Amino acid sequence: MEKILAVYNSRFSNLHEIKISPLSRAYTFSDSVYEVIPFYNFELIAFDKHISRLRNSCNALNLVLDFKKTTKEILQLISESNLKNGYVYYQVSRGVDAIRSHIFNDNLSIETFGYVVEHVFKSQKLKVMLCEDLRWKRCDIKSTSLLGNVMSMNNAKKKACDEVIMHKENILTEGGASNLFFTDDKTVFTPSISTNILPGITRELLINEIKDAGIQVIEDEFNINDLKNAESIWLTSSTKGVAQVSDVFDLEVSLIEDHPLYLRCNKIFNEKFLGGC
Ligand SMILES: Cc1ncc(COP(=O)(O)O)c(C=O)c1O
Repeated sequence: MEKILAVYNSRFSNLHEIKISPLSRAYTFSDSVYEVIPFYNFELIAFDKHISRLRNSCNALNLVLDFKKTTKEILQLISESNLKNGYVYYQVSRGVDAIRSHIFNDNLSIETFGYVVEHVFKSQKLKVMLCEDLRWKRCDIKSTSLLGNVMSMNNAKKKACDEVIMHKENILTEGGASNLFFTDDKTVFTPSISTNILPGITRELLINEIKDAGIQVIEDEFNINDLKNAESIWLTSSTKGVAQVSDVFDLEVSLIEDHPLYLRCNKIFNEKFLGGC
């Protein structure tokens, strides 16, 4: 089995050697939050923003994490891995119960788990499926409770799609593991931040960079009809970067492949964060 450097409750080892209790609340209740933190050419991308989002997720669930220790562990995972490009997955759970119980004991010790893997950051073209957003009302918390996303993305896979675009009663929210952008010939549109979407770090970095370059970005509420009129659609995430959508299953859209506005924004992002790759 491939060796993957990991850390569980501050002890470093091979990922496949870690044993956890089935009474971990991450396992029984998804009572846990996580981050995926990318690094490129040995440099972390927007590390402070990922830590700050992890802090918000922990605060929302009253998880008291030692952020100094977590930061040290993430940096150690990257330095000991010797990987040039990749990401760290880091998860924080409330801890291990004595017996499964919805109401947790205040004395539980926080349980942390992380690993580092190689990742190739490359431009992708994604086929996506439109679907109803099945999730709860706190999608702004980066919780490991992702069954709505998992169900939708696996249904999409059956239709040979790579991702989904979700909507709540016609109002567009986000991708299954990404944020949504679309454009006309000169303006970029994206659903505004709300408790219905994850405040994506890539989303924020991209918006800041392209606005600085003079491109108009409108953050608002959008519906499926708005998407039908799009000239280009993109999905953003820490591992996908800015990925263009080539086709939307079950929706009539006339997308322009390699749309000039997409190419411009993708170039701005890649030059700033991914060495222009
Ligand atoms: C539901 C969801 N939305 C958006 C994103 C993008 O967030 P980020 O750019 O911080 O990776 C992700 C990332 O996995 C996600 O799972």
